Amino acid sequence: MSGPLRVGVAGLGTVGAALIAQVAGQRDQLTARCGRPIEVVAVSARSRGKNRGVDLKKMKWFSDPVELAGDDSIDVFVELMGGDRDPAKSAVEFALASGKSVVTANKALLAKHGVKMAQLAEKAGVALNYEAAIGAAIPIVKTLREGLAGNSINRIYGILNGTCNYILTRMEQEGLSFAECLKQAQALGYAEADPTFDVEGQDTAQKLSLLASLAFGTKVEPSAIYREGISSIASADLAAADELGYRVKLLGVAVRTPKGIEQRVHPTMVRKDSSIAQVMGVTNAVTIDADGINPITLVGPGAGGAATASAVLSDIADVARGVKVPPFGRPVARLKDVRKAPMQRHEGGYYIRFQARDKPGTAASIATRLAEQDISLESIVQRHAKGAPSSETKNGSVPVILITYATSEDAVRKALAAVGRDKVISGRPQVIRIEKN
Ligand code: HSE
Repeated sequence: MSGPLRVGVAGLGTVGAALIAQVAGQRDQLTARCGRPIEVVAVSARSRGKNRGVDLKKMKWFSDPVELAGDDSIDVFVELMGGDRDPAKSAVEFALASGKSVVTANKALLAKHGVKMAQLAEKAGVALNYEAAIGAAIPIVKTLREGLAGNSINRIYGILNGTCNYILTRMEQEGLSFAECLKQAQALGYAEADPTFDVEGQDTAQKLSLLASLAFGTKVEPSAIYREGISSIASADLAAADELGYRVKLLGVAVRTPKGIEQRVHPTMVRKDSSIAQVMGVTNAVTIDADGINPITLVGPGAGGAATASAVLSDIADVARGVKVPPFGRPVARLKDVRKAPMQRHEGGYYIRFQARDKPGTAASIATRLAEQDISLESIVQRHAKGAPSSETKNGSVPVILITYATSEDAVRKALAAVGRDKVISGRPQVIRIEKN
């Protein structure tokens, strides 16, 4: 194992270019740590002529990533093209079938085809590493696959999308619009090619599906995840959250319950003094609640070229050292089917904002509908037209904001349907779940 590890990289966007720079910049340190040099010997990308700020002269060029994946000049194939279709899919499959270890940052591909790819890796006796696919620089895959191999995990949750956390942070702290914050996240290279994947929660759901598999030993099943994004979050919600002692974060949560595994992605109210509420900007955080130990939280940069490349490089270093762990922490035959806990059975506190008719008795009528479903209120705020900022009063209606004690999703949905039938509100109520942390 003393010869150099020969790496082929498909995809030379911000992550691919940062990876090539990091491999070159840390050559001696990598050789010392891995006991052999790591060399990028071949690359593939859509356009050959583009200036990426890195020296590609000594590398073999492939216009077809699938050809690169099977080429004898490489030992490990690094897939940084993204997407759950070809060419990424065929290239990874071909590399594994050709007996090459694969390192990828592609959560979409693994969320959809991860189990099949783990099978291919197992059959070929090679590694399939994807640390960069979740939380970029945060070593969460390694933590779950290796560090916590002896623990039974009850809940794993976190801020898994840098773009959304960046948007929510800037909206809250600087009063900027959603659209403006999204534009800046795109300019900084955080967002997906199609940013609706970020803001509508698909990206978080894909990452959560991988975390749930690692945490609970289940097959990767993104369709088992309940999902809401942040595009409906208004400045009024962030201001109300602040007033009530909360902050809004897009969380991915997977929790073991007596009814099965509950997996959900949605905007979430977290207490302002909790550690997850302190996580700002593009930073991600993952908390693991495991039996017998206090929760473990890992925090770090969750998107961006250099952060993502650093995780890719750690995966390559493992291949160079000959470290090989089953992709989802156990042999594929040992992965269980997901028993999905229905979202209607979810229990927790809720923030609900209504735009209510500004006439006597409206708040009382809403409270009655909630009481009929045994929902108790921790706080209720009604802003009368005189006291409310003009941005909040619309056509004789005012916001009524409620925080409930723990109740069920089913009860909340039934109560909201009854309030709707009473015709005391305009528009759809805003509902944000509260997570205990
Ligand atoms: N678009 C993703 C994010 C990139 O914003 O977190 C990292 O997976």
